[in-house]
Amino acid sequence: MSKQFDEKYAEYLNYFNVELEKYCRESLTTKPEILGESMRYSVLLGGKRIRPVLMLAVGDIVGVPREKLIPFAIALELIHTYSLIHDDLPEMDDDDYRRGKPSNHKVYGQGNAVLAGDGLLNSAYSLLFSQCFNGKEYVSAAKYICDCAGIAGMIAGQSADLLYEKASSDEDNLNFIYENKTAKLIKAAVVTPCIFNGVEYFGQLQSFGSYLGYLFQLTDDILDVCGKFSDLGKSIGKDEAEGKLSAVRLYGLDECKLRVDMVGDGCLKIIDGLNGDCSFLYEFVNFVKSRLG
Ligand code: IPE
Ligand code: IPE
Ligand code: MG
Ligand code: MG
Ligand code: MG
Repeated sequence: MSKQFDEKYAEYLNYFNVELEKYCRESLTTKPEILGESMRYSVLLGGKRIRPVLMLAVGDIVGVPREKLIPFAIALELIHTYSLIHDDLPEMDDDDYRRGKPSNHKVYGQGNAVLAGDGLLNSAYSLLFSQCFNGKEYVSAAKYICDCAGIAGMIAGQSADLLYEKASSDEDNLNFIYENKTAKLIKAAVVTPCIFNGVEYFGQLQSFGSYLGYLFQLTDDILDVCGKFSDLGKSIGKDEAEGKLSAVRLYGLDECKLRVDMVGDGCLKIIDGLNGDCSFLYEFVNFVKSRLG
């Protein structure tokens, strides 16, 4: 990755984190206090923030100011964080670590972790609703994010992920899981700016979201076998232990690595068809691939 990419990523990340911290201070304080504390615990632990970074970057390409996008970027990160809290619960993936620290339920207990996730989802919707007074395209953007997160999106993917645990390997089911549990929130990130401006890119950025989401989950599945706790901040080897339908189980590690290049090329081809300075998106694809080392 070039120095310019690293600097730009850090700039988007810092801008986002300052706004997120402000939002948490102002809007995630509750009675009982434990509810707000448990929500802030998971949100502020960090994470790569790839979804907000992508949203701001596409905003720059299609000419939508970051001030306009920030409530949507915060809402998306709250939804993503809630999905992780619930994903880690014993009845789902049973993961004890997240973002390098004990998972929400290990600190606050399972009941509170369910509520922290519910609270984050609800807060995200409240934030999205608050934007809807500003005009029609704000309503469309809010609805797009809700649909990507919902029962024809991330939740459907998580449902399928549970359903096909320990089931026989099937490519259609894997594709369904990848597209929904992972790609839909990434799609929400890259498509939201197009709803405000740059409608001509809508279809291309939807496809880009799907390809990038696939690539991201593919690398996540590979890292679950080959990664290190110290790099990822989460347990390794859980997919096999839980009998997950992962790309590694379906194709084997060697073929997965070939697929990383193939899907990465697919992402780059879509970017080639866009006008404007897309160098950040181009390097973003290589950044995802580079996580494999
Ligand atoms: C983890 O997402 C869940 C997957 C979709 C694989 P991230 O890898 O973006 O998690 P954080 O936000 O950086 O912790
Ligand atoms: C999680 O996929 C996707 C969502 C949380 C929606 P994984 O279960 O593979 O994510 P990790 O590996 O726990 O981060
Ligand atoms: Mg999972
Ligand atoms: Mg998991
Ligand atoms: Mg995983």
